[in-house]
Amino acid sequence: MAVTPEQPWTPASWRTRPVAQHPDWPEAPLRAVVDELASIPPLVFAGEARTLTESLALASEGKAFVLQAGDCAEAFGAFSANGIRDKLKIILQMSVVLTYGAGVPTVKIGRIAGQFAKPRSSNTEVRDGVELPSFRGDMVNDIAFDAESRAPDPTRLLRGYHQSASTLNLLRALTKGGYADLAQAHAWNQDFVTASPEGRRYESLAAEIERALRFMTACGIDLNAEFQLHQVDCYTSHEALLLDYEEALTRQDSITGDWYDCSAHLLWIGDRTRQLDGAHVEFLAGVENPVGVKLGPTTEPDEVLALCKRLNPDARAGKLMLISRMGKDRVSELLPPLIDAVRESGHPVVWACDPMHGNTFTHSSGVKTRRFDDVMSELRGFFTACNNAGVWPGGVHVELTGENVTECLGGTDEVLGDHLEQRYETMCDPRLNARQSLDLAFQTAELLRR
Ligand code: PEP
Ligand code: CO
Repeated sequence: MAVTPEQPWTPASWRTRPVAQHPDWPEAPLRAVVDELASIPPLVFAGEARTLTESLALASEGKAFVLQAGDCAEAFGAFSANGIRDKLKIILQMSVVLTYGAGVPTVKIGRIAGQFAKPRSSNTEVRDGVELPSFRGDMVNDIAFDAESRAPDPTRLLRGYHQSASTLNLLRALTKGGYADLAQAHAWNQDFVTASPEGRRYESLAAEIERALRFMTACGIDLNAEFQLHQVDCYTSHEALLLDYEEALTRQDSITGDWYDCSAHLLWIGDRTRQLDGAHVEFLAGVENPVGVKLGPTTEPDEVLALCKRLNPDARAGKLMLISRMGKDRVSELLPPLIDAVRESGHPVVWACDPMHGNTFTHSSGVKTRRFDDVMSELRGFFTACNNAGVWPGGVHVELTGENVTECLGGTDEVLGDHLEQRYETMCDPRLNARQSLDLAFQTAELLRR
């Protein structure tokens, strides 16, 4: 279809642009689902997205650090209260480590409550001579390799919406209802973590926090009155990939008249869908939510500047997060020109690092994995690039789970190649387990302190 940049933005204007990474939806069933989605309540509220923008503005000024973390892909079949609670636990633990270590607030954003759709490098998958559509995440089709399972099914969008609503409901209860109280910092440590070196390090940090809280009470400070100690904000995010879904959940804010994509607080554009004239950039250029963009090795400085102008024309701090994912070997070569270009333009952004997606490889056993050391190596490269350019390393974006899985190699309690199959449960990319995640948080806090 023709590219018509002069047309005004609407929630549907992405339809005039080339759309990458969409499944071949059956038209009539898709329309019925989208009509239903458009009539049911939003998942998040405009005011919450605005508060997140304010927090991200602090991260763009060096006064906060962003932790964006969660599954590569959430799964319909792995949906439980314990799973959600354990993911929140590890995010809370990492936040405490980062905040205590670095002395700045941690902005917590889950890859959660909507992260169901995946971009793929190939439209089809071939097994034993049989070619079927690729699996694109539970919100599109089923991972089983047969024609019926792989056919895109729009009713999965509705199921994704409802699972997101339940997930968000539990997250709100846990973060506001006492579970996230700083006095509970000990209780977030899981049994299988406590005995590990990272777990013990965390225990002693939690003990220091308890002592500090007791000290403040002894000084006569009424801690009950300090609500920040008793609850946290944990925001939701996902890749805005399926634009029919995102459009249906885009609503006009009754207070400001602005458009918000109410499927999550923050939406990001993947490395495969960040074309300037493409549908995904067009869609996210018009919503007021904070937006992330993944920047992979093919990104040019001019493209980044154009993305900044397009996605944040008024250059508002906190609106845009640029997420570098170059791979450990290339970050120090490829990232500095991008940082320099943005710094010289004066555009306010949060610079974050996804040290996962550029470091994936297939292990000899046939599964996709990542080395913990490679992840840390890219993070160090990111910090060095930011420090050299005099910009604040504003955040980290990681794939993790609160469980004791064996999907990434290494860490202090080393996961070895022949352990990978013990608990390899991810729906898509390999995730850090709880110990590896804590280890990453401690090492990142050290990098931040420097
Ligand atoms: C992801 O975050 O799961 C992903 C696919 O990332 P990228 O777009 O950076 O490849
Ligand atoms: Co991934």
